[in-house]
Amino acid sequence: MSQRVAILGATGLVGRTALGLLEERRYPVGDLRLLASESSGREMTFGGRPWPVEAVSARGFEGVDLALFACANDVSQQWVEVARLAGARVVDNSSAFRYHPDVPLVVPEVNGALLDARPDLVANPNCSTIAIALALAPLARAVGIERVEVATYQSVSGGGAEALEELERGVRLGLERDPPPRADGGPAFAFNVVPQIDRFEDNGYTREEMKVVWETRKILGIPELAVNATAARVPVRVGHCAAITVALARAVEPEEARALWAAWPGLEVVDAPAAGRFPTALMAAGRDAVLVGRARRDLSQPRGLSFWVSSDNLRKGAATNAIQIAERLMSGAPGMAGRGASR
Ligand SMILES: NC(=O)c1ccc[n+]([C@@H]2O[C@H](COP(=O)([O-])OP(=O)(O)OC[C@H]3O[C@@H](n4cnc5c(N)ncnc54)[C@H](OP(=O)(O)O)[C@@H]3O)[C@@H](O)[C@H]2O)c1
Repeated sequence: MSQRVAILGATGLVGRTALGLLEERRYPVGDLRLLASESSGREMTFGGRPWPVEAVSARGFEGVDLALFACANDVSQQWVEVARLAGARVVDNSSAFRYHPDVPLVVPEVNGALLDARPDLVANPNCSTIAIALALAPLARAVGIERVEVATYQSVSGGGAEALEELERGVRLGLERDPPPRADGGPAFAFNVVPQIDRFEDNGYTREEMKVVWETRKILGIPELAVNATAARVPVRVGHCAAITVALARAVEPEEARALWAAWPGLEVVDAPAAGRFPTALMAAGRDAVLVGRARRDLSQPRGLSFWVSSDNLRKGAATNAIQIAERLMSGAPGMAGRGASR
């Protein structure tokens, strides 16, 4: 038997990607509810036929088995409880519940075992952090990690559909003159690198940077792990990158790190710099694998290793990870028997 699936935020970048992935991954969708802010005659296509987009309401969750939330924090906060009370299992892409001790924060290839308890609310991690945690996991398991230093280079689609439109508009205008500032008054995305994502916290870090700190610790299950992050927005449409340096429990040669990554599900090693092969945002866009490369010993410390990751923020950084969660979460549910779940 198949499931009734709802997507809240179906018209946004993550929602649209999730809809396409349900089809691509042959998720057993019996019935579908596409929910957003206002319906006013909008339609989307699924399974070769049009589906209406409805304004979100309590009725929208009636009979729903799986609810994929792809909306802002306040919208998730408003509707998660309604969906749970209606009997749905919720996978939430927002950060509204990620830091709640009772809500699992899951990258299936790292801590997917948390899903075996079949929680009715699972948080999908931050888009950069999914890739960072995935690349750190084999090193943490096989060697031990003492400290992480990370700088992210995040594409503009990470800020949602409106931000992406601003980039595209700004690029066109910026070919003729200085790109205009953003509608919210922030510095232009086009032809720029902006070291602010999300609001500034009192400690001088942005909230995006603190998400990397908090979520890396929670996903890896190392609450005291020292993590220092800088997050920047770069004028790229899709694909986040991160430069990562780790202090390990012992020295690790790049060859050993590459072997650990190559054996870990969800990771793909692209590391032949002499041949011009290393991960880029464009190379990662449209793919589910997190690409890892540029591995080298950190010459400034005896047990340090530096490397680079690139991933598609809308797929593995959001929708793919959410649907992988759903596949394992719902694996005891009708229609999911026998589907493979990653570790
Ligand atoms: N973009 C990424 O790379 C990424 C990665 C990981 C996590 N996330 C998180 O995923 C969530 C969605 O991000 P996104 O990039 O897809 O954003 P987006 O493109 O701005 O889409 C937002 C969606 O929310 C809907 N929405 C807005 N206000 C609503 C309301 N009051 N009630 C119901 N629906 C409402 C919008 O519907 P309308 O069309 O009706 O406005 C749209 O479908 C956010 O929490 C984001 O932080 C994003």
